[in-house]
Amino acid sequence: MIITVTGAAGQIGYALLFRIASGAMFGPDIPVSLRLLELPQALDAAEGVAMELDDCAFPLLGDIEITDDADVAFEGANVALLVGSRPRTAGMERGDLLAANGAIFAPQGRAINDNAADDVRVLVVGNPANTNALIASANAPDVPSARFSAMTRLDHNRALAQLSGATGAPVSAISRVTIWGNHSATQYPDLSNARIEGERFEIDRTWVEQDFIPTVAGRGAAIIAARGVSSAASAASAAVDHLRDWVLGTPVGDWTSAAIVSDGSYGVAAGLVSSFPVTSDGGDWQIVEGLEIDEFSRGRIDASVAELAEERAAVEALGLL
Ligand code: NAI
Repeated sequence: MIITVTGAAGQIGYALLFRIASGAMFGPDIPVSLRLLELPQALDAAEGVAMELDDCAFPLLGDIEITDDADVAFEGANVALLVGSRPRTAGMERGDLLAANGAIFAPQGRAINDNAADDVRVLVVGNPANTNALIASANAPDVPSARFSAMTRLDHNRALAQLSGATGAPVSAISRVTIWGNHSATQYPDLSNARIEGERFEIDRTWVEQDFIPTVAGRGAAIIAARGVSSAASAASAAVDHLRDWVLGTPVGDWTSAAIVSDGSYGVAAGLVSSFPVTSDGGDWQIVEGLEIDEFSRGRIDASVAELAEERAAVEALGLL
């Protein structure tokens, strides 16, 4: 399995590569070769990470290639993790942020289109992840758009952890939690269908609205406030979970959350990359259909999807789609 990781010398890269190489992503039977894409100024740091990967003597790890050339990095890739991006800096307007990331994700989309393996699966982690995935997919016309996804699994895992903490139920007993919409403060972590030990349970709506939702949606900012830098190990762990479930399948009776290209389900405008409840049997992500959406959920989903539509309009205006 050839796995390309962009932004390999960054914080998430440092937490992610060792998990991949140890077999945490696809299990103990699938050897992995790594392709690390970095900016020219970070190639030395990426070399250092590769030296440490060597020093782990992971039995599953094949060759490691380090490059600043996207065509080389995506050559033959079965999995592409697009982590490197241009984060928002002080005073940066959203339009500037989208333009700066368009300059990264449009060429990377083209490089995936031209070089990756026929079965390539792409996970965009770098923010603004949903719209970056939209840009990459739009620039890879020969790759089915279902092969592109953006990461809301960290939000999903945060929701599991919060519900576990509040109820005392172990994470392993909780199922059918959903993140809807954008990986941003407007996301909607939804417990309407959640189960503990397979059963519906009484849930305090005031806690959900005033504690659970703001805690999950604001967790990234809380971690930056506490750590001084953004979440990295948990983001890497979520990326491992996302790819494992996509390639090996989701557990029977449960679903997970991933941002994928909408087919119009649940009133989410077709073509937007929005988070949904999804399952996989090892092929493409499938949206879980037929869930009831109450008025509160409708409002929250619509608000986050409206933000995605604005982002799409902005990148369309920049000629990135
Ligand atoms: P970081 O700043 O530590 O590392 C980013 C790396 O990407 C740097 O080494 C940089 O040289 C590289 N890079 C930048 N542009 C590149 C390009 N065009 N090609 C290849 N490499 C490039 O950042 P960190 O903490 O690793 O986070 C990465 C991204 O992940 C950020 O955008 C962050 O906001 C996002 N993130 C997303 C989460 C999610 O749940 N979707 C959760 C946490 C972070």
